[in-house]
Order: sequence, then C-alpha cells, then structure tokens
Amino acid sequence: MASETFDQETRLPPKPKFEAPAERMAAGGELMALRGVTRHFRTRRHDTLAIDRISLSVNEGEFVCIVGPSGCGKSTLLNIVAGLDHPSGGEALFDGRRIDRPGRERIVVFQEPALYPWLNVRANVELGLKIAGIGRSERKRLADRYISLVNLRRFEKAYIHELSGGMKQRAQLARALAVEPRMLLMDEPFAALDAQTRDVLQQELQEITSRLKTTVIFVTHNVREAVILADRVVVMTPAPGKLKTEIAIPLPRPRGPDSHAVVDLAARVRTELQHDIYAAQSAEDSYAI
Ligand SMILES: Nc1ncnc2c1ncn2[C@@H]1O[C@H](COP(=O)(O)OP(=O)(O)OP(=O)(O)O)[C@@H](O)[C@H]1O
Ligand SMILES: [Mg+2]
Repeated sequence: MASETFDQETRLPPKPKFEAPAERMAAGGELMALRGVTRHFRTRRHDTLAIDRISLSVNEGEFVCIVGPSGCGKSTLLNIVAGLDHPSGGEALFDGRRIDRPGRERIVVFQEPALYPWLNVRANVELGLKIAGIGRSERKRLADRYISLVNLRRFEKAYIHELSGGMKQRAQLARALAVEPRMLLMDEPFAALDAQTRDVLQQELQEITSRLKTTVIFVTHNVREAVILADRVVVMTPAPGKLKTEIAIPLPRPRGPDSHAVVDLAARVRTELQHDIYAAQSAEDSYAI
C-alpha cells in the first residue's frame, strides 16, 4: 500500500485536482425508492421470506448504511436495487423508473473484488468503460482520474495477484467510479480486510464520496463503520428482514473511529440491533414459511 502518499496527520490521500461532475452537484431529490418490497425465495426444500414489505427512500448525494443480523436480507435488498434480483411484491424505483435490470447508473462493489486476474489494474478499470462503448481517449482520461483518486497510480500496471487486499478493493472502487454511476451499492466491501487497512479505506471512502457527492448504499456488519460513513443508518430486523429503525448521523466529516460522538452513536445502533438478535435466537428458523 502506498502509505507514504497519505497525509501523515489526517491519514487521508492527497487531494487530486478533481471536480465533481456537474450533474452530481445538484444533490437532494429522491433518487431510489423501495415501496413495500417483498422477496420470497422458493426452493424445493424451503420457502423463505427474505425481506418483508420494505419501504426505503434514498436521496441524491446521500450515504446510507444498512446494518442487520446475518441472513436478514441485506444482500437481497442491494441486489434488487442493482437490478440483479427482482421483488416478489412491491416496487423498486430508480429516478422514478422501475428497476428491471442492472445499469451503469447503479454499480455494485462486492466483498470479494470481482477483478479479472489476466488484466492489470488499468485494464480492469478501463474494461467497464470499453463495454459501455466509451472511446479510447475518454477511457484513458477517466481511468487516470479514478486510479489517482483511489491512490493506485503507482500500481496501475500491476496484476491483481500482485496487490494487497486493500489495493484490490481500491482497484474495484476505481473501476466502479470510472463509469460515473449515480449510485454505488457496496456489500460489505471492507469485511475481509485487516483492521488498519479498513480504517484507512473508510477514511478514503469518506473523502472520495464527499468530494464526488456520490449516492451510496453500503451494507456492513460493523456498526462503527456504519456511523463513520453514513448520513443515515438503517437498522433491519432479523429475518424476514423489515426496516426496524433509521438513525440520522449528523456528525461533521471526516469522522475518526475513536471520536466520542462516533462511539456514542455506534452504541445506540448496537443497542437497536442486539435487542432483536437476542429475541431472534429463541425463534430460529421461524422465518422459513
Ligand atoms: N438465491 C436464493 N435462493 C434461496 N434463498 C436465498 C437466495 N438468496 C438469499 N436467500 C435467502 O434469503 C435470506 C436473506 O439472505 P441475504 O443473503 O440477503 O442475507 P444477508 O442479510 O445479506 O446475510 P449476511 O449478513 O450473512 O450476508 C436468507 O435466508 C437466504 O438463505
Ligand atoms: Mg449479505
């Protein structure tokens, strides 16, 4: 990891000269809405209600974190917004239109970086642009911009197996950002990283998404991570997942992991979660209908 490029005091990467695309500056209106979304999975042995009548609205420029017990339907919810899965009931809307397939305006970043091992970092970042039909010089410009933004310039010729876990996540983030999506959908992207790398990437992600005004839905099991990153934390119930509560995080940025306000709000979110987790333990499997 190119740690020497970080500011020694703030541990943030140096600010590249970068201007947010004009359309993202107009933050505020509703960008994504789930209206009473339910998802059943029917298999030969089980009929599972994964999420149950979820209504959620995310505004342009907002950073929303979703926390909830394992199996409560967080990935299912994210996949529906991504257009990789579809509701059994209710509707999922993006910019007022029903989501029926994946699209360049909604890009997913997974826990395991989905990068092509036979391509180097730059080629991985450019591939999505090529598929989108973007010409060579524009591809180069966008790849330059986003590889710099995630601090991978020195490693742009490296192949994926030559990268650390944190670098792979940076590469995945650069590839996602390069197509300039209106919404990033992140499913536990830092879960497999060591604690220090995770801290650094949380700081970088705060910096990058604040600068770009990217709208983000971020799923995590780590309550403190949610409070560091989010404008709003959405807490889900154990399966079948419903929305339990939403907690606004009105703290100034950047937010450090050890700030008192972060620790206090994390304790509040954790209390909401734990109450349900204990209740769910005695009712295990009751959601298989
Ligand atoms: N393709 C599928 N077929 C059948 N059942 C599924 C499918 N995908 C998810 N489920 C079920 O839906 C429920 C919710 O799963 P999901 O992966 O969304 O949970 P999660 O909250 O992301 O869990 P985790 O925190 O462990 O990642 C689970 O009971 C799971 O078994
Ligand atoms: Mg999941």
